[in-house]
Amino acid sequence: LFGNVEAFAGDPILSLNIAFQGDPRTEKVNLTIGIYMDGNGKVPVLPSVKAAAEKLGFGVRSYIPMEGLADYRRLVQELVFGKGSKLLAEKRVATMQSLGGTGALSIAADFLAKHTPGRPVYVSDPTWDNHHGLFQRAGFETKTYPYWDGATRTLRFDDMMKTLEEAPAGSIVIVQPVCHNPTGVDLSPAQQDALSDLLIAKQHIPVFDMAYQGFADGIDEDASFVRRYAERASSFLVANSFSKNFSLYGERVGGLSVVCATADEADRVLGQLKLAVRRSYSNPPTTGAQIVATVLGDPALRALWEAEVAEMRVRMKAMREALAAEVKKLSNEIDVGFITQQRGMFSYTGLSKAQVVQMRDTDGVYLVESGRMCVAGLTENNVAAVAKSLVAARGA
Ligand code: LMR
Repeated sequence: LFGNVEAFAGDPILSLNIAFQGDPRTEKVNLTIGIYMDGNGKVPVLPSVKAAAEKLGFGVRSYIPMEGLADYRRLVQELVFGKGSKLLAEKRVATMQSLGGTGALSIAADFLAKHTPGRPVYVSDPTWDNHHGLFQRAGFETKTYPYWDGATRTLRFDDMMKTLEEAPAGSIVIVQPVCHNPTGVDLSPAQQDALSDLLIAKQHIPVFDMAYQGFADGIDEDASFVRRYAERASSFLVANSFSKNFSLYGERVGGLSVVCATADEADRVLGQLKLAVRRSYSNPPTTGAQIVATVLGDPALRALWEAEVAEMRVRMKAMREALAAEVKKLSNEIDVGFITQQRGMFSYTGLSKAQVVQMRDTDGVYLVESGRMCVAGLTENNVAAVAKSLVAARGA
């Protein structure tokens, strides 16, 4: 019956993470998957999260609504759009609890496929591989807009604008508003505004994928692109995730918000999102969303969490500086100063696949084969070894 089932080649990020776990070398370093490690190289349990979990205890686990917990959904909206948002006052946003950022994008792709079918979906070149996969699975054809210039390691902003200008009106455009995965290169506020002008003029449908809120400049600062867009546009989507900024990866906590033209439209859209959930997994899990809602809803825990996110942000920036400094000690020719300009968890290093493979085989330093490095895996203890491996590979 299943004799012709094709083998799965494996996911380019998740497979490497598994290979790393099986590597017996003690000096190995995991710079593959987007998981934040603390200064000891461990996935942290945030004290705010621990305090919320203790406060909640383990209570009744009945079903929760298809769209998720009401308090959680309200707090997601406030975190994404800002507490004083006009859209929220006008009840124009349909927000549901999702299975992380990926789950939000998956429901978004299915929703758009059902209600706005046949449009091309544009993603950045390069992008997180799963953007293509999720929208193709929903039946869309994915296309790319230029984003990264490998030669100058900067944004191809003019080319990006030209492609989106020439795209058919009403195209779906995946936009990462902050901490671009995989490059770490973001649009400046002026570029964000120019892109917003274009998206609105062409009636494109942006899907903002915001998985790293708080990892660039701050919780509110990182939402500013989305919030400014929200002041001007009537219809767009936002997927957000608490995997990284709450260190709650395995709990699968995120949100999908669909911004609508009217409250009545938002009501009907929420109904369709509920239906999509019912037909897929019925209703979301309880624990992660309860924890996030408890932290965000309690002023003391929220302040603690904001400080914890700041600590993660500062540590990642420090590790970028440390890597650049260590490389400089070893080589005058190799300049990785650009790493300090990039933002968030990731850096596109410009290393070739052969160089990445050499670092992995020779030194046990794991990067994604595209040359993407998760800088959140660097620590004071491994940064010198990573620099040495990088310089050796570049010299090869
Ligand atoms: C990544 O890009 O490494 C993360 O977003 C994790 C994932 O699911 O791929």
